[in-house]
Amino acid sequence: MMDIAVSARPLDHVADFPAIPHGWSYLDTAATAQKPQPVIEAIARGYSETYATVHRGVYQRSSEMTLAFEAARRRVAGFIGAPSSDEIVFVRGATEGINLVAQSWGGANLKPGDRIMLSRLEHHSNIVPWQMIAERAGAEIDVAPLTQDGRIDLDQMAQMLTGRHRIVALAHVSNVLGSVLDAKRAAALAHDAGALLLLDGCQAVPRMPVDVAALGCDFYVFSGHKLYGPTGIGVLWGRAELLAAMPPWQGGGAMIDKVSFEGTSFAPPPARFEAGTPHVVGVLGLEAAVAYVERIGLEAIGAHEAALVRETREALSSLNSVRLFGPDDAAGIVSFAVEGVHPHDIGTILDESRVAIRAGHHCAQPLMAHLGVDATARASFGVYNGPGDIAALVRGLERVRRIFG
Ligand SMILES: Cc1ncc(COP(=O)(O)O)c(C=O)c1O
Repeated sequence: MMDIAVSARPLDHVADFPAIPHGWSYLDTAATAQKPQPVIEAIARGYSETYATVHRGVYQRSSEMTLAFEAARRRVAGFIGAPSSDEIVFVRGATEGINLVAQSWGGANLKPGDRIMLSRLEHHSNIVPWQMIAERAGAEIDVAPLTQDGRIDLDQMAQMLTGRHRIVALAHVSNVLGSVLDAKRAAALAHDAGALLLLDGCQAVPRMPVDVAALGCDFYVFSGHKLYGPTGIGVLWGRAELLAAMPPWQGGGAMIDKVSFEGTSFAPPPARFEAGTPHVVGVLGLEAAVAYVERIGLEAIGAHEAALVRETREALSSLNSVRLFGPDDAAGIVSFAVEGVHPHDIGTILDESRVAIRAGHHCAQPLMAHLGVDATARASFGVYNGPGDIAALVRGLERVRRIFG
């Protein structure tokens, strides 16, 4: 085995994660993060001690749960620098958040001839909802190209933007390449053209401090489960005046002001967009996840993952026949290919060495087409990873090469 000089230091938080057994290298955090004990405990407490519905009960338990639920909303607002917790809409995840904006804002605002700007590296959940509303509204989609090293090419995008563009929707961090968007510049470019900017922050919030007000975007979405929180809960942040002008997209309980067969009026945001009984305990779990990453510090997590990316890229580039994708300063994610070996085979052989990576198109088929591949192998990091995981990955890849000659 080759020697690799690893300087990335583990944050030493692996002990917080009961589902990571000793000797298992979990390198699939970009798909979903493992859960730390405080999150598991918050969920267990939510069901075993404090459980009740919110915003409905007149009894004390429900009032207390409502207070806890709204306190979580304030914590999430603070976490992403939202000016008001009324701008935080709880959704199932980033996918639902983008669909909400596309259907509600897009349905009310997009007209025939309007244009939507996306990029070549978007996740399907930041493509398909826009295709659906574009077809309904008669709008067109443009696709910003990428630079050689896999960033959204904002110079090119600036040339492509016109007064017909109504919204620009971009990944803050690519889930395949790890490339980080210059979000402030993207916001300025969108606004100069008279368009709004939606950022898909799924891969950003777990690995860098995010301040939506400082970034200057208009909508921001992320999923709780990639941030060490539960599945089934995510966040849409929108500027207050935009949310206030948007129609509801789902009808039901909790989103109304008054209902009659003569006509129904709706609650103000965020309730207007939260029809039905919410994922009460999911919100408590998300709050615990936010508290967990804030305790470690997003700067520290970002620096830790940047070091792991650097070490991994160095180690993999010294292996013959490995092709690396994305920029050297990628955030927490390294995609690669091994010449002559399908990524699924890489993933299967690595699994035999107790290394879990993702292999596939990563819900980014247009990006795969751009890269000229069907699939890539992807290692992605979290607070539980350290140099030992990189060494295990390299050992596993040497075995892949031995098996495939
Ligand atoms: C960049 C990006 N956007 C959107 C999503 C969709 O997230 P979810 O499936 O949690 O809604 C993902 C998940 O892989 C992602 O990585």
